[in-house]
Amino acid sequence: MIDKQRHLSRRELLRQTTAAGVAAATTFVPMRPAIGQQAKVKIGLLLPYTGTYAALGHNITDAMKLGFAEAGNKMGGREFELIQLDSEADPAKAAANTNKLIVGAKVDFLSGPVHSGVAMAMAKIAREEGTITIISNAGANAVTRGMCGPNIFRTSFSSWQVCFPMGTEMARRGLKRAVSMTWNYAGGKEMTGAFREGFEKAGGEVIKEILVPFPNVEFQANLTEIAALKPDAVFAFFAGAGAIKFVKDYGDAGLKARIPLYGSGFLTDGTLRAQGEAAEGVFTTLHYADSLQLPANIRFRAAFKQATGRDADVYAVQGYDTARLLIGAMDKVKGDTGATKALIGAMEDTRFDSPRGSWHFSKSHNPVQDVYLREVKNGDNAVVGIAQKAVSDPGTGCGLA
Ligand code: BEZ
Repeated sequence: MIDKQRHLSRRELLRQTTAAGVAAATTFVPMRPAIGQQAKVKIGLLLPYTGTYAALGHNITDAMKLGFAEAGNKMGGREFELIQLDSEADPAKAAANTNKLIVGAKVDFLSGPVHSGVAMAMAKIAREEGTITIISNAGANAVTRGMCGPNIFRTSFSSWQVCFPMGTEMARRGLKRAVSMTWNYAGGKEMTGAFREGFEKAGGEVIKEILVPFPNVEFQANLTEIAALKPDAVFAFFAGAGAIKFVKDYGDAGLKARIPLYGSGFLTDGTLRAQGEAAEGVFTTLHYADSLQLPANIRFRAAFKQATGRDADVYAVQGYDTARLLIGAMDKVKGDTGATKALIGAMEDTRFDSPRGSWHFSKSHNPVQDVYLREVKNGDNAVVGIAQKAVSDPGTGCGLA
């Protein structure tokens, strides 16, 4: 890091010297050109475009593009460019990838990722560098708790926020013994951990927590174990291609009729077409549902379908809200990316009329939002009710006033 800064400042010095020489030899160049004449605003996107989370990354990106297009592809009167980098959902590459965008491409804003492990590395660097960063999916609790920062915002959810309500709900339904199952990484473990917290607080017991390596999709041995344990229910977190495989395998193993399947909504979001009959009757909690009869949702789903030929899902909604957040804040400061304090203030004040319903930021910059209870019915995530209203992550350890 120190080496890089030294190398960079040498490079920067070289650039400035060259620029000064050119200016002196030609004509007067103002120190800070009028905002309208500045270069394009750069927005770095660190998202998965390959691998098990590829569909999630594409939907976030395409919905951002839709949001930008609806605003005339300008923010604060300025043109912009998206610099897309494939995160490969690989935490081991996250620091290098983040540096490529912040230090290498010198982005004005950073957004992404999908994977919580990537988010931890990305948020740490972004906080140190002061780059305004909008987490458009990853639920890692710490990002808006102990690792929070004035320049770090999240337009998606915290892992705790979407899973704790399902624990309460399952206990309310009289379920007593549950097994949880997920991938063995921060995002998965936090989701099953939050479910456990809610379930056990309400009188249930998690008799076994099954962890499989990310992004493995060989579930047979675990499903055999679940059958032998005979719990009242299973709670699972998987997403993307892994969720498709898990739900189908669960059905094929003949478990669905005997042991009801529950999960966070990622288990059935953007996946229903591929899961088919196997997903019918699965209950999940999430801050979004396809079938929400809100004008903003109906309009957004039609526009996304027209733009991409695909159905919108929770990831698309998060991308869309991210674009609208950026546009709103940049419009407020008339495109002055140097006005960091004003930009942050504008973001904090944003009130969203989103396809998911209305929401705003908590003090730790995480959404305060309703969490819906959904059931898959006729190939749709139908809203059964609101599992918990205006859920706010506790933001433990975040010192933002
Ligand atoms: C996560 O790693 O936080 C995550 C990944 C996919 C969907 C939802 C959350």
